[in-house]
Formats: sequence, structure tokens, C-alpha cells
Amino acid sequence: MLTSLENKFAIVTGATKGIGRAVASALLEANVAVAICGRNQETVNAAIHDLSAKGRVAGIAADVSKEDDVRNLFEFVDREFGALDILINNAGVGIFASVADMTPDQWRRVIDINLTGSYYCAHQAMARFRRRGSGFVINISSLAARNPFAGGGAYNASKFGLNGFTEAMMLDHRQENVRVCSIMPGSVNTELGMSPKASWKMAPEDVAEVVMTVLRMPERTLISRVEMRPSKPSK
Ligand SMILES: NC(=O)c1ccc[n+]([C@@H]2O[C@H](COP(=O)([O-])OP(=O)(O)OC[C@H]3O[C@@H](n4cnc5c(N)ncnc54)[C@H](OP(=O)(O)O)[C@@H]3O)[C@@H](O)[C@H]2O)c1
Repeated sequence: MLTSLENKFAIVTGATKGIGRAVASALLEANVAVAICGRNQETVNAAIHDLSAKGRVAGIAADVSKEDDVRNLFEFVDREFGALDILINNAGVGIFASVADMTPDQWRRVIDINLTGSYYCAHQAMARFRRRGSGFVINISSLAARNPFAGGGAYNASKFGLNGFTEAMMLDHRQENVRVCSIMPGSVNTELGMSPKASWKMAPEDVAEVVMTVLRMPERTLISRVEMRPSKPSK
């Protein structure tokens, strides 16, 4: 039997736009209470305003690369919801440059947000999952986690690292009823890295659909890794 998500509690990081927002929207439609974050309180408030017609949504500004911000985010959720069942580590940035041109600051930003931020959030989530007796972490990785490309030094490293982290965490905590999955999309129509939109790309809602499928699997089953790509990419 599929797992019901009714009345569960989730955090979706980086849900002011793009994939995170589509995931938050799909969770709300399934009667999950959702807490969101982004780096800016105004954009978080605007997203909450737009999403609130769909269900119970709350959020605060939190930069996932900052440990204190992440702690605040989880304590906010403790106060708002009093429980946590699902963490979607989605917040991410794309900065693309050759190794010669990439500055140390840009390198740190990509690794700190895409990789270390996912650890900070997963670490906070585990304390709550242990108290609750179960939990689910979905890390939004990328096909860039297995396909290096020129200019992708930092981004590839962050997503290769995220996949390794995800699989190790899955092995760490599977016996504690904590399921951990990485979803690896190819090109999605969002503003990531300021890449141009194109009709051949996937939609954020397509990734959200996969998130919901993974979450709804019977408790005995874990979809631990998903690759998804545009059916017909541009040549
Ligand atoms: N688009 C693609 O083709 C694609 C493909 C594969 C994987 N992905 C992955 O999917 C995830 C979402 O990307 P997207 O395409 O939806 O990008 P997006 O449209 O640029 O959205 C990124 C989201 O992350 C938030 N964010 C960025 N840095 C943050 C930080 N330090 N702390 C908290 N929130 C932060 C942004 O909010 P603020 O700007 O308001 O902070 C925004 O809500 C990323 O992990 C990305 O690597 C994307």
C-alpha cells in the first residue's frame, strides 16, 4: 500500500522559486504542512503568500550554508509544527567557470550551499527523526553528479559529493526507519545559473512528481536514486 502523506510535516529548502517551489506546492496539495526557506525574507514571504491557498505553509529566511541559520530554521519548525517527517534538500546554486577563472569565493559558495548546506539540514533533521522514530530525506542532486562538463568544476564536485553523502547517509540510518534518496534531474526550466529557458527542458513540476512518488512508496521500499532527463534534449 502506498504511504499516505496526510498531516505530515516537511521542510523544503530553497522553495521561493524553481524546483523547490514546485515540490512545496505538490506537498501542500497532498495535505503536508510545509516550511520553506530562501535567503531573503521578502521573497520567502511572497512565496508563502502565493502557496498559502494550497495548505499550511510557513517559512523564514535561512541561508543553508550558515549553520546558525539552519539551526534557526529547524527551531522555527519545532515552534510552528512541533514535528518533522520530511526534509527536501533542494537549495542550490549554479556558478559555472573554468578552474582558472573560478574565484575561491565562488568555489566556496557552490560547495557550502549545495553540499555542506545539505549536511547541516540533514544533521538537524536526524535529531527530530530519531525522536519521532522515522523520517525521509530527499536530496535534489543532478545528472551533473555523474557527468562532468567543462566549467562545472565546482558544481560537479558539489553534486558528486552530494551523491556520496546521500548514499552514506542512507546506509547510516536505514535501520532507524529513515529513508534517504537522491533525485538527479537533467536540465529543468528554472533560473539556475541563469541558463536560458527552452521548450525541450523538463518542468519543475516533473521533478515534484518524482519527489511525491518516492515519498509515497510503501515503507518497506526505498527508491534510493533517480535519474531523470529531458526526453529529447536540443542537439
Ligand atoms: N535547473 C536545473 O536544470 C537543475 C538540474 C538538476 C538539479 N538542479 C538542482 O535543483 C535545485 C533547485 O534548483 P532550481 O533549478 O530550482 O534553481 P532556482 O530556480 O535558482 O532556485 C533555487 C532556490 O534555492 C534558493 N537558494 C539558493 N541559495 C540558497 C541558500 N544559500 N540558502 C537557502 N536557499 C537558497 C533560492 O532562493 P533565494 O535565491 O531566494 O535564496 C531558490 O529558491 C538545486 O539544488 C539545483 O542544483 C537543477
